[in-house]
Amino acid sequence: MITVPRAVSAPFLQHDPGGFRIESVTAADVAAGLGTPCYVYSAGAVRDAYHRLDAAFGDHPHAIHYALKANSTLAIVRLLRSLGSRVDANSMGEVDVALRCGFAPREIVFTGVGKSAAELARAVTLDVHAINVESPGELERLDQLATAHGVTARVALRVNPDIDAQSHPHISTGLRDNKFGVPIALARSLVGDMARRRGLVPVGIHVHIGSQITLLDPLARAAEAAATLARELLSDGVPLEQLDFGGGLGISYDGAPVPGAGAYVRALVAAAAGSPLALAIEPGRSIVGPAGVLLTTVVDVKQLPGGRRFVVLDAGMTELMRPALYGAFHRIEPARPRAGAAEPADVVGPICESTDRFARDLALAPLEVGDLVVVRDVGAYGAVLGSTYLRRPLPPEALVDGDRWTTIRRRQTLDDLLSLEA
Ligand code: LLP
Repeated sequence: MITVPRAVSAPFLQHDPGGFRIESVTAADVAAGLGTPCYVYSAGAVRDAYHRLDAAFGDHPHAIHYALKANSTLAIVRLLRSLGSRVDANSMGEVDVALRCGFAPREIVFTGVGKSAAELARAVTLDVHAINVESPGELERLDQLATAHGVTARVALRVNPDIDAQSHPHISTGLRDNKFGVPIALARSLVGDMARRRGLVPVGIHVHIGSQITLLDPLARAAEAAATLARELLSDGVPLEQLDFGGGLGISYDGAPVPGAGAYVRALVAAAAGSPLALAIEPGRSIVGPAGVLLTTVVDVKQLPGGRRFVVLDAGMTELMRPALYGAFHRIEPARPRAGAAEPADVVGPICESTDRFARDLALAPLEVGDLVVVRDVGAYGAVLGSTYLRRPLPPEALVDGDRWTTIRRRQTLDDLLSLEA
């Protein structure tokens, strides 16, 4: 039976005698207003995480490019912008979300392992801060595009340092066999080649070895490898501007300690020691992950004779894909625990897939049909990975700030869903 320590996350999301609350708003209040399943985020938790990371750099020249893929609901993106963040976009859709939220093109880095010709052309004409380039072929195409448009493209080369992030294999990107980046051994000559091309301005080196990384050592080694390469390129006379160390810092899903923002930034700054270049990072999960919860209602409790207890929720893999996709663990708690001892339960969703299970053998206080349940740490890669399988409309999202909450995305209706169809 899995027993999880209580109260490991920020004080913005907590139990108190009135039930689980997000800042000063109870989960029950939001659920009553929006229905379940719904996502709820704490603006305070997002601000706190951003400020910790930003403050950890001190006077060191740096830029935080929030990774939109983690959560790109407009209100969240605008909140990040109000804090001074820049963005990392991974598709033209994300670039457009950033522009609509008021970001200037020069505040956007554009990454992606398979950028289409249309996406590259748009990024070039927008003149984004950096296009993180993934292959020699892409460099070639970008040069041709920029030259054809009579402009220059600001490019950073994404290098693959062949370092094991020691995270889940599905979210590790820095090994030689992964599809991401250019082998670091080829990078020096490739950037030299970039510098000689009319359409390209090499501005930096980019490295991102994976996500949910809870050991600083792989992150530091990847940063060191990128910094060493940048030093060589500067000595070759390539006038680089920045080192982009990507995202990847993990969060504690189960209460086990993970490195904080301070230790992470110290490791990166030390890895770049002596480099005159500005440092950029692309954090997603560590900024918004702990700030979000999924509120869901128990629709059935099924006790097999002498066997398992299944707690069936009205949310499943359509709302929160991470457990089905990565075997990811999320804390699950009654919004208002009933008296009684915790017993093991399998917490499952209503979808017709056996992988539609949030937890197995989780120690869970007694729950009855109709009880409200909180799934923690879903602010990153939660709502964005939702699907409408079984014609289930996407859930609404709310943002809490102090004692106020607002709907930042309404529940999709079946009409919304069908409006695309003949
Ligand atoms: N930069 C690049 C180039 C990335 O590919 C990613 C994440 C990030 C930054 C942000 O990484 P973060 O700080 O959030 O770790 N769906 C998975 C996570 C996929 C992450 C993909 N890339 C999950 O649910 O865990």
